[in-house]
Amino acid sequence: MASSKKKYQQSDLKYQLKTFEKIPVTIWEESNDASIHIAQSIALAIRQKQQDGEQLVLGLATGSSPIKVYDELVRIHKEEGLSFQNVVTFNLDEYFPMEPTSPQSYVYFMNEYLFNHVDIKRENIHIPDGTINMDDWEEYCNSYEKKIDAYGGLDIQLLGIGRTGHIGFNEPGSWINSTTRLVKLDALTRRDAAADFGGLENVPYRAITMGIGSIMKARTIYLMAWGQHKASILRKAVEGKITSSIPATFLQNHPNTKVFVDKGAAESLSRIRTPWRVGICNWTDDLICKAVIWLSRKVKKPILKLTDEDYSENGLSDLIIEYASSYDINIQIFNRLQHTITGWPGGKPDADDSSRPERAKPAKKRVIIFSPHPDDDVISMGGTFLRLVRQGHEVHVVYQTSGNIAVHDHDAMRYIEFIKELIDKQEIPCEEINKSYERAKKFLRNKKFDQPDSPEVRIIKGLIRRSEARAGARFCGLPDEQIHFLDMPFYETGTSRKKPISKKDVDLVAGMIEKIQPHQVYAAGDLADPHGTHRVCLDAIFAAFNQLKSKKWIKDCWLWLYRGAWHEWPTHEIEMAVPLSPQELMKKRRAIFMHQSQKDHPPFPGKDEREFWQRAEDRNRKTAAIYRDLGLAEYEAIEAFARWKFDK
Ligand code: F6R
Repeated sequence: MASSKKKYQQSDLKYQLKTFEKIPVTIWEESNDASIHIAQSIALAIRQKQQDGEQLVLGLATGSSPIKVYDELVRIHKEEGLSFQNVVTFNLDEYFPMEPTSPQSYVYFMNEYLFNHVDIKRENIHIPDGTINMDDWEEYCNSYEKKIDAYGGLDIQLLGIGRTGHIGFNEPGSWINSTTRLVKLDALTRRDAAADFGGLENVPYRAITMGIGSIMKARTIYLMAWGQHKASILRKAVEGKITSSIPATFLQNHPNTKVFVDKGAAESLSRIRTPWRVGICNWTDDLICKAVIWLSRKVKKPILKLTDEDYSENGLSDLIIEYASSYDINIQIFNRLQHTITGWPGGKPDADDSSRPERAKPAKKRVIIFSPHPDDDVISMGGTFLRLVRQGHEVHVVYQTSGNIAVHDHDAMRYIEFIKELIDKQEIPCEEINKSYERAKKFLRNKKFDQPDSPEVRIIKGLIRRSEARAGARFCGLPDEQIHFLDMPFYETGTSRKKPISKKDVDLVAGMIEKIQPHQVYAAGDLADPHGTHRVCLDAIFAAFNQLKSKKWIKDCWLWLYRGAWHEWPTHEIEMAVPLSPQELMKKRRAIFMHQSQKDHPPFPGKDEREFWQRAEDRNRKTAAIYRDLGLAEYEAIEAFARWKFDK
């Protein structure tokens, strides 16, 4: 009986899903695993063609989405002997104009990530040529299109999706039957590329791209989307109406497209955001909380004012059936949220802690705040940092990476000249230092915009960030001996592409935790950011905890996660909400201001034009407004945390 019911529910869910998702989507816990799966499907297709004595025609994408797929293909080639001799590739696009030797070119990208590491025949590689004469583009693009057809069309096309909904560089307005052509890049696409080009002003305005029509002819299409920043556009692409203003929606008409997403990118899909509208739910406490918060915001009423009608008119009658009345559910969720709020992030001494987020004992805790870059501590949890120190805990801040790539050259030059002039003025006899600074100065004077920094310059930039981090932590009340720098090696490449995490990275983190033996650890919990520095820093912390799990004291160590500069935890996931008064918020702003090199116009502003202090304040004010709207107390701002439980 039970099993047939389960079966019914599953097929019902499948049916219901189809009414929302017009393309098959699989959600993966980790983008890494999804990428491995895609790479293995491609490897299988290559091998099958080899057996049939045929070539596989592969359409390739660039950008961050396919990187792990290429890594896995290279691994399969090296470790399992997969040959690429029978593979013909066509890349989707290339910037225009663009020299193939430029590090921003897609030729450079493809060589770096795939072609230089496998045995593909050079003559089988096709990438749109960014150096063609402007007058020749139509003829060139037609010949690119014809070449694909001459090989019998694309067997598999890999795609990422841009935040404009572009596939390839088919920006909004691209039509379904468009072919390879010269296009203008959307302003948002150019902004997203700005970090790779060392500033928006260096990003080309144009590109050559295969058309939607060219892509739609592929026999199989794999579309990938990783990370929360893709969630909203992915939902539109998969669930929205087909429209040329979101070109990826055309894929809904393709008979064999598969979409692969991680949890971050899946966040806005109806089955995740509002599963109660899609099918029958397994009502856990977390899901009930999520549903009640959603309902309260939808009908714009505080939780305690929600009625039975509100529940049943909005697809939540299941809950009323289970609980008998809205009153009981409302009280339960209201209390749950109320208990997240505390002005005592380190625990309130001598208080009943049965419904508080933190333990009362020990009253004075040892605390580590891990900060991936030298400013995440104050940006993401400056108010809590200040409170922990004020409330007498032994707080240590540990900066995980040097952050050296995010310092402008002109700032480095200013410091070099300062030191140089100090040495000259005081006639300090330090030949070697003098020579080294002369070299650094010369390097910066001749540096091209896309050139990685020399080791000397990297050291100087790292020191600039160190001095700012010290100023910020001192401002929060820390003595110098409680400020630590790890300079984790994975970060030290001088470019935005980092090395894989190593044992040395993990040992550094584990060594610090072991030395301090903290009761609380705070860390950046950007679980949905698949490639970024924050994610690697978090992985190192997880690995360090694992390494130390046999130690008795580690059982008493709670790990609290804060979110990075851009996102906040979904409200139902918040387990500790630390309110900030207007004065505390202002103090936090001043702590962020200590990071001078990141003010006004940081080299890596991300996808948001506001300054870091503005983002932080907007985010903290927004969390407070959500709590207020749900019917809880009204605060100026709130910093939010979720607790990571290792037995989860
Ligand atoms: C790249 C391309 C683009 C990207 C898209 C997503 O060849 O055609 O459509 O796939 O902009 O970029 P990432 O993967 O960097 O988010």
